[in-house]
Amino acid sequence: MEWPCMTWCLQLLFVVFVVQICGNKGCFQEEKIALLEYKEFLKFHNYSVQSFLSSWVNDPNSDCCTWKRVTCNSSTGHVIHLSLDSIMQEQEGCSLNLNLNLSMFQPLKELKSLDLSSNCFSGLIITEDDHRSVSTLKMLKTLDLSHNSFNWSIIRPLKSLTSLKNLILRDNYIRGDFPVQELSILQNLEMLDVSWNALRNPSTVKDFHALSTLKKLKTLDLGYNIFDGKIFECLYALPTLSFLLLDANSISGALNSQGLCNMKTLQQLDLSDNSISGTLSTCLNNLTSLRTLDLSVGAYRHLSFLTLHPLSIFHFGRTILKAHSH
Ligand SMILES: *[C@@H]1O[C@H](CO)[C@@H](O)[C@H](O)[C@H]1NC(C)=O
Ligand SMILES: *[C@@H]1O[C@H](CO)[C@@H](O)[C@H](O)[C@H]1NC(C)=O
Ligand SMILES: *[C@@H]1O[C@H](CO)[C@@H](O)[C@H](O)[C@H]1NC(C)=O
Ligand SMILES: *[C@@H]1O[C@H](CO)[C@@H](O)[C@H](O)[C@H]1NC(C)=O
Ligand SMILES: *[C@@H]1O[C@H](CO)[C@@H](O)[C@H](O)[C@H]1NC(C)=O
Repeated sequence: MEWPCMTWCLQLLFVVFVVQICGNKGCFQEEKIALLEYKEFLKFHNYSVQSFLSSWVNDPNSDCCTWKRVTCNSSTGHVIHLSLDSIMQEQEGCSLNLNLNLSMFQPLKELKSLDLSSNCFSGLIITEDDHRSVSTLKMLKTLDLSHNSFNWSIIRPLKSLTSLKNLILRDNYIRGDFPVQELSILQNLEMLDVSWNALRNPSTVKDFHALSTLKKLKTLDLGYNIFDGKIFECLYALPTLSFLLLDANSISGALNSQGLCNMKTLQQLDLSDNSISGTLSTCLNNLTSLRTLDLSVGAYRHLSFLTLHPLSIFHFGRTILKAHSH
């Protein structure tokens, strides 16, 4: 009498066991809770979570790895990528002075990339955890905070994200001196984009030397800021750059800089939309890796050296010279 029930019970136990194992593999409970807390935070601040995060449901059977905007590592089941860009608020425009606490993502132990662009955030908090010796978000390689309302105060908290390789701060309200000391701590940086802000040269050229700790930096996008020609004197601190974008800044007059001519690894140099004029230093010939040089200017500006100096001074193999002098 009892035997068939026993078999049935064992089978049931086995099924429950298998479901548990597979369920855990899909999504870790603490990671799911962290994501749901982030959703609650946005909801509280009147973001349209119903339309943007509708798949994020607080249901024990729901696997957070299947949620929209979430990517997990299929073998470990940990969340590795979050695309949380452009989650709009219900009202038009950015009406709130909203601080983002990045430590909310701390339970996502293997998070590698986090896209929080276009979210109207204006302040950033990162709580350093004194109790655990691990640093905050220590696997994070890519952080995109572009198109928000951050000002210079965002820079200080970023210092704790020492594993970052790609940091994108494009199009915010970061105005003032280029944050040399603070960024010099991020020694794994390979790409830094601070374009479309209002940053200027550090107060003394010597300060820039602190950046020579960034030995892996390949791409530096300083476009659409207010750097002037002195920035070239700072570049000796970054001799391994491959891509340097300085378009639409306040560089005027002649391009004569030893710093620029030392950049033997430079492959792309964008100096378009500045007020550069006069003699183009022949030391630019020393930039033997250069493939793209953009000296184009707006119609309202005049680039006189292009007529003074024949283009043949550019002896670079496959150089694409984009130059519209009018
Ligand atoms: C969300 O919107 C409601 C209704 O407009 C408003 O009363 C409330 O203060 C808003 N909440 C926040 C955090 O701004
Ligand atoms: C997934 O995790 C495994 C084990 O840690 C790792 O070897 C692999 O590179 C990861 N895959 C991705 C896409 O991150
Ligand atoms: C930020 O979030 C962390 C983790 O959730 C929390 O411990 C900390 O108190 C928060 N900080 C602030 C200022 O809200
Ligand atoms: C910068 O942003 C922070 C956080 O929103 C704010 O508290 C502070 O007043 C802002 N500073 C300036 C100069 O606007
Ligand atoms: C550029 O190269 C020339 C000769 O190849 C050399 O004399 C000059 O010092 C170099 N300039 C710089 C800035 O490296």
